[in-house]
Formats: sequence, C-alpha cells, structure tokens
Amino acid sequence: MVTRDDVLKALEGVQDPELGGNVVELGMISHVRVDGSTVDVGLALTVAECPLRNQIEGDTLRRVRAMPGVDDVNLHTTAMTKKQRANLMSVARRKVRENAEPTQVSPITRVIAVSSGKGGVGKSSVSVNLAVALAKEDFKVGLLDADIWGFSTPRMLGADDRLLADDDTRLIHPLEVQGIKLVSTGLIIDSEETALMWRGLMLSKALEQFLQQVSWGALDYLIIDMPPGTGDIQMALTRMLPQAEMIVVTTPQRAAQKVAIRVADMARRSHMPIVGVIENMTGDVFGSGGGAELAEELGVPLMASIPLDSAVVEGGDNGIPVVNQAESGAGQALLQAADKLVTLVPPAELETCTGRIAKLLAALDEGAA
Ligand SMILES: Nc1ncnc2c1ncn2[C@@H]1O[C@H](COP(=O)(O)OP(=O)(O)O)[C@@H](O)[C@H]1O
Ligand SMILES: [Mg+2]
Repeated sequence: MVTRDDVLKALEGVQDPELGGNVVELGMISHVRVDGSTVDVGLALTVAECPLRNQIEGDTLRRVRAMPGVDDVNLHTTAMTKKQRANLMSVARRKVRENAEPTQVSPITRVIAVSSGKGGVGKSSVSVNLAVALAKEDFKVGLLDADIWGFSTPRMLGADDRLLADDDTRLIHPLEVQGIKLVSTGLIIDSEETALMWRGLMLSKALEQFLQQVSWGALDYLIIDMPPGTGDIQMALTRMLPQAEMIVVTTPQRAAQKVAIRVADMARRSHMPIVGVIENMTGDVFGSGGGAELAEELGVPLMASIPLDSAVVEGGDNGIPVVNQAESGAGQALLQAADKLVTLVPPAELETCTGRIAKLLAALDEGAA
C-alpha cells in the first residue's frame, strides 16, 4: 500500500529548477490524497502561467506514476496565494544562503542512469552514444563511468589522457572528449599503486568522489554508465542525486528481461523513476520484441530498438561512436533514442518566472552581508 509519506518522499525528487529546491520543501505541494492505487496531488505554482509549468507537472506525474502500487495520478495545478508565495520566497532565500551543494552536479542537471541487470547487454555502448548524440544537439553533456572496475568508456571514445586536478580547488577536471565531459577510473589508473588505492575503495565511495570532487560545471545532462546490477550504487546515486532517473537496457531474450525487471524494481524502491527501455542487439540471433514486453510490464515507453550491428563493436574499439557513422543502422536508432530522451526528459530551462526573483534575492543578501 502506498502512503502519503511515500508520495511526499517521491516528490522530493522533483526540483523547481529556478529556486534550486524540491517542490516539497518549497511548499508547492498543497495536498496529497491516497485512495487505494489512486493518488491525488495538488501542485501550487508561483504563478499560473509559469513557463516551467509543463516541466514541473511532467516531473511530478512521472515521479508518482513510477511508484509501485500506483495506477492513477490526478494532478491539480493551482497558483499560489500571496502568502504562500511569501513563504516560498523565504525558503528560497534560506536555500540561497546555505548555498552548500553536497555534490558538484547542479540540482537542475538531468541525471540519467543507464542500467541493466547484467553485463554485456550494451550499457556502455548506449551511454557513450547517447552522450555524443546529445552533444551533437548542442546540449552540455557529462558522462560518468560508474563501472569502476569494468570501465570501457575511455576506449569507446578514444580517450587516453589522464584526469588532472585544479591546483587551487583540488577538484578534478573532467576530460573534454568528442564534445562531452568524461570521468572514468580508466582515466585515473595508470600504475599498480593507484589501481590498488582504488580497489580499496567501496564502489559507492568511488561514486561519491566522482560526484563531489569533479568540477562538472553547468550540464544539461549527466549520463551515468552504471555497473551491472548492484543495488549499492543505485542507492548511493538516489541519495546524492535525488533527480536521477533510469534507462533500462535489455537484450531481446526473455531471460534478459527477468534480470532487467529486478533492476527496475530496485529503482522504484529507491524512488528513481524509469524513463524508458532501450532494447539492444535486436536481430536474427536474439530475435526481437523482448524490449517492448519489458516496457509494457514496467509501464514505460520503449525508447528504441538498436539493431545488432558490427559497426557498434568496431566503433567501440576505434573510439568512433556509431552515432557519427551515417550508414550505421544502430547509429540511426541511437540518434532517435537521444531525441526520444530529450522529449521525455527535456533539459531544465532557466531564466524564467521565479529564477529572476531568486537571483535578485541572492544579490540583495550579498549586498546586506
Ligand atoms: N547493437 C549492437 N550490435 C553489435 N554489438 C554490440 C551492440 N551493442 C553492444 N555491442 C557490443 O557488445 C559488447 C558489450 O557491449 P557493452 O556496451 O560493453 O555492454 P555493457 O556495458 O552492458 O557490458 C561490446 O563489444 C559492444 O561493442
Ligand atoms: Mg559496460
């Protein structure tokens, strides 16, 4: 059974990108009512015609729909009263003052974890190609290789430089490669000694370092190539980046779906919404249709079916992602998957209604200090 508290917990993942807070702490959730598997949510926006309305409504619906045990969500959007707006601005003002971000990833960056139940289904190939495809569309994109021991993104992008840290801030600069910002243990380990040091770290600690000690800067999307199956990293990710959402990659066979469902289940329990399913390696050997079935079972869209295509392997080995190979069927399908992602999870927009007020407040606070 879903409870009101569960719903509120899930809604903490919905950010107002302008005010830099979640809709619950900002007092934008006017009510939550649960009746069996039907949830009613009241959303109070600062102004009714706020340009961010679609985004916040969409995120709210997605978060609640992704909860296990929820079948229907009714959303009632209203505009705040003057008093509610005043309260909201005081919370926003406090947040601006606190200003201490627990990670270097902006709360308005869209975070997409590419997961699967097991290795070898194409997570890394999908992550790399989605990242490059988004960068080709002029989005600012980061790629975090969270497969700490099984890293493959540096090879797939032809990156062999080392990561360097800033002398003053001590923060690690991501490597700029093919228009994206890349961080991977593969760009750090260059000796037995550093390898040993990293092996001593827990996986979730390594992820924490990558989120807290890397100067990611302003990103539209951060794509995370997840290690196969482990719950630890997923939990750490939701704890540190509550806005994270997941894409599930599966091969077309039935067995693959079962493992994928387990991962999806874990995601839901940690309140991570699933954006959609990508079926990979569709074709003669593995058949097709498993991705569509999994998507149906999870109640999310099938974002793309990527054909089995030797260009993916060659591109991966040569550092030339298939989305840059016009004649590749897999490349075309991956470009479509990236477009689909932008439709499903549009980048956060800034410089609209409340953002200007928040900046003004920040400036006033600075002036007063
Ligand atoms: N659509 C595809 N067609 C052919 N080979 C693929 C396809 N997708 C991935 N591969 C190959 O399968 C292997 C595993 O893919 P990878 O992306 O490393 O999977 P994972 O990250 O899930 O372990 C790699 O050699 C890769 O080149
Ligand atoms: Mg991989």
